[in-house]
Amino acid sequence: MNITVIGAGNMGSALVKQLTRAGHRVAVTARNPEKARAVAASNPGASAVAPANAAAQAEVVVLATVYGDAVSALQSVGDLGGKVVVDITNPMTADYMALAIGHDTSAAEEIAKAMPGTDVVKAFNTVFAQVLAEGADFGNGKTVPVFVASDSARAKEVARTLAESIGFAVIDAGGLKNARYLEPLAGLNIYLGYGAGLGTNIAPTWIRKA
Ligand SMILES: NC(=O)c1ccc[n+]([C@@H]2O[C@H](COP(=O)([O-])OP(=O)(O)OC[C@H]3O[C@@H](n4cnc5c(N)ncnc54)[C@H](OP(=O)(O)O)[C@@H]3O)[C@@H](O)[C@H]2O)c1
Repeated sequence: MNITVIGAGNMGSALVKQLTRAGHRVAVTARNPEKARAVAASNPGASAVAPANAAAQAEVVVLATVYGDAVSALQSVGDLGGKVVVDITNPMTADYMALAIGHDTSAAEEIAKAMPGTDVVKAFNTVFAQVLAEGADFGNGKTVPVFVASDSARAKEVARTLAESIGFAVIDAGGLKNARYLEPLAGLNIYLGYGAGLGTNIAPTWIRKA
């Protein structure tokens, strides 16, 4: 798949690593072009691109910026009409102790409202960057899931294909509105990882009694 990753930080660089290893063609763009170049240089199959028209060849755009930069970052990469946008953001407060928005909306829904004509899917937001970079196989018979939520069947399918291509399991979490549940779930994951000291090699999952 032709993928543009916006953001070359913890999550962006981990995504570029995994997606290129899975054989996808990945363009990466960042506010600081040096960061995008560094990420591309260490991942064969990736190219660093300037923001303008960064998404021209992309079938799917993965948004890997902080929530506060999300809409301006999407608007900076050219026309996204008809494209799938994978939103991995969590709208955390600056101290990471709470969500800045929630209950009656979500980051994913606000992004979808601001980017009409795109198909937004929430995914990967409950996966720590460390887990993304190291891989979904936890070595104990457990595979880390990616929860996907979208009102677009096509966007959900694209997110599923991407997640499965890099080894993650997928849990269909319903419509985009359910990002209102997935973003707090990521908040709990952050609390457990940092606040409760479990570390960032953990991930939420769902189990069914045999
Ligand atoms: N870290 C995690 O474990 C984790 C897990 C799940 C979800 N998330 C979510 O994933 C998102 C990214 O997290 P992160 O830890 O990767 O953050 P990060 O390390 O701060 O990286 C954010 C990246 O976005 C770039 N950026 C900002 N504005 C941009 C623009 N207009 N155009 C292009 N790039 C732009 C930044 O560039 P500059 O550095 O040049 O400013 C930076 O490379 C956040 O929304 C976070 O809530 C994070």
